[in-house]
Amino acid sequence: SADQRIENLLSKMTLEEKAGQMTQISVEAFLKTTNGVPDEPHEFDMRKLEEAIKRYKVGSILNVGGNAQTVDVWRRRIETIQKLALQERLKIPVLYGIDAIRGNNYTLDAVMFPQQIAQAASFNPVMVKKAAGVAAYETRASFIPWNFSPVLDLGRQPVWPRIWETYGEDPYLVSEMGKAAVQGYQGEAVVTDKYHVAACLKHYMGYSMPLSGHDRTPAWIPERELREYFLPQFAAAVKSGAKTVMVNSAEINGVPVHASKHILTDILKGELGFKGLVVSDWQDIQYLFQRHRVAKDNKEAVMIAVNAGIDMSMVPTDFTFTETLIELVKEGKVPVQRIDDAVRRILRVKYETGLFENSTGRAKDYPLFNSSAHNRLNYDVAAECVTLLKNINNVLPLSAGKRILVTGPSASSMRSLNGGWARNWQGDNSDKTEGAKNTILKAIRNVFGAANVEYSEGADFDKVLNVQDAVSKAERSDVIVLCIGETSYTETPGNIGDLRISDSQIELTRALSATGKPIIFVLTEGRPRVISSIEPLSSAVIHSYLLGNEGGSVIADVLAGKVNPSGKLPYTYPRHTNSLLTYYHKYTETLKFDEAAGFHPQWEFGYGLSYTTFSYSNLRISSPVLSDSAPVVVSVDVANSGKVAGKEAVLLFVSDEVASITPEVKRLRGFDKIELQPGETRTVTFTVDKERLSFINEQLQRVIEPGDFTVSVGGLKASFRYE
Ligand code: IFM
Repeated sequence: SADQRIENLLSKMTLEEKAGQMTQISVEAFLKTTNGVPDEPHEFDMRKLEEAIKRYKVGSILNVGGNAQTVDVWRRRIETIQKLALQERLKIPVLYGIDAIRGNNYTLDAVMFPQQIAQAASFNPVMVKKAAGVAAYETRASFIPWNFSPVLDLGRQPVWPRIWETYGEDPYLVSEMGKAAVQGYQGEAVVTDKYHVAACLKHYMGYSMPLSGHDRTPAWIPERELREYFLPQFAAAVKSGAKTVMVNSAEINGVPVHASKHILTDILKGELGFKGLVVSDWQDIQYLFQRHRVAKDNKEAVMIAVNAGIDMSMVPTDFTFTETLIELVKEGKVPVQRIDDAVRRILRVKYETGLFENSTGRAKDYPLFNSSAHNRLNYDVAAECVTLLKNINNVLPLSAGKRILVTGPSASSMRSLNGGWARNWQGDNSDKTEGAKNTILKAIRNVFGAANVEYSEGADFDKVLNVQDAVSKAERSDVIVLCIGETSYTETPGNIGDLRISDSQIELTRALSATGKPIIFVLTEGRPRVISSIEPLSSAVIHSYLLGNEGGSVIADVLAGKVNPSGKLPYTYPRHTNSLLTYYHKYTETLKFDEAAGFHPQWEFGYGLSYTTFSYSNLRISSPVLSDSAPVVVSVDVANSGKVAGKEAVLLFVSDEVASITPEVKRLRGFDKIELQPGETRTVTFTVDKERLSFINEQLQRVIEPGDFTVSVGGLKASFRYE
């Protein structure tokens, strides 16, 4: 059995070999460089690679080393690494990991799907699973078996520069999407086939709530809240069989998570029963000493982190960790049992990704890499994500023959469509492959005819350009498509001081508005930038998030009415920079005087329009009483009462009327995405059991208290009691 095989291997390993397995090095450390920059096409410096594998017995490698590479470069790299690893005494393959976070975005030509925040807006886990399946296939086509995805952090701090990497603000939505992603990445079987990869749940846990909004800065989250809002999605994904977890780089309540035995060992490996491997984030063990200052030196940092439960250190470029760990074990400061536990977990992932049977792959097994089928799926996923937030007098869709001005900083940029982790860490629009794809401008020209479309950049993200040119062209157009938002970013470089959209874009919008021509905003942004000062100047608003390589085509087709938008907001869109509420805020946050002061959000979580209308009726429940043995079944009829076919995400909210912990005004407890032809009606059914309605009480126990509950779907309400 797998366990016997792993135990057998473990019993033969020296301490040095075990410490090597626990070491993950970034590929940059092995690349030939000139003046510190990797030489194209990123060949290995074989002396360095051999030292890593033969002398330090490194167990894992990650990253790209600069820009994206062709699939052939990747295959050669992995073959070279595995050949060396398999020459070693115990023939243990190297586990290569990469951030293929929405497609294998570091391999040229690989399909790049919408980013997670956009995928969340689809409210369609079936689509998410399919997209993850293709991402896994295309990653494995590069012979890489481990994907640092999905992000299961809760996206409720919109300033945070990684909110777009999340599935939004609701724990239930994040759980459902997270499970779907894990299933798509890993497939059904425990040992993945050659088309699947190990998923990595990150960043466990509480990373997304820095008080300052800035990346990797302290969060203050009481344990009850951690367990209520931040843990359930990890628990659900662990239960789905996720093979690996990456740790939050930041601190919670003064304790860096890399040093928290409570969070890593007691909760994750104990309570959740996680059997897979826990990898640190980049350099984060060292940072316990260098940044967090909970260790007096590097050695103490390694001791704290490994004893807390970290199985593998993303080092990333030298072998101090490996050498220090060996010393600590010899000195009795890290128990051998802890090392054995870590190595067992690592070997299990290698076994379960099939590496012992086949450490690389065969190119001919991946004929669908970048195929039209994969690109078509990408388009279909993006079409379900795009969210229509405003459409005054049905200005959209636009009729054929309209003269259109396309303007704004993201109109002609793949970078704004794709966001970060696209071809390189911060996102890039300079490489040919990405540039050759459809920008919004190119796609609008294709759909509406180049003769009908004018273009003027107008402004970039931080300065106005030729506004007069944009205004003159607007004057001879019928409608303005204004593409605004953000450039790509991630992590610390994406920190901002102000959530408001930039001044240059406000100035451009005001100048265009003076022409009196209807303006359609296309919001290409990874976080909800506050637009309250210019929103009244728009006739329609399309939120495209970061839609990926097919985003331009999808937006053009939304404008033309070929795509009927069906996305709904996965986060609350704030109206004011200092009024950041989630939809499941507490009752004391919805007092009347707050509304009078205009503290309501710009758009609510779950908001999204369609070109058709949906009517909800006949909400019914199977019983007025929920018991321990019998769930309540909630049904509602949804009809397409408009003129075109459309998809609708049906959201079920439940309010716990009175509870010992102040209840939220409502919580999402179910959703379903359906498609209806005009005139068609469908009954949607949800099963609400006790577990769904439970919460964490003051004693940190998950409970459901007797009392009244109200369900609401599409504005209809019904009540039941739990006795
Ligand atoms: O997976 C990432 C993580 O999200 C941020 N730090 C680096 C890791 C590996 O690239």
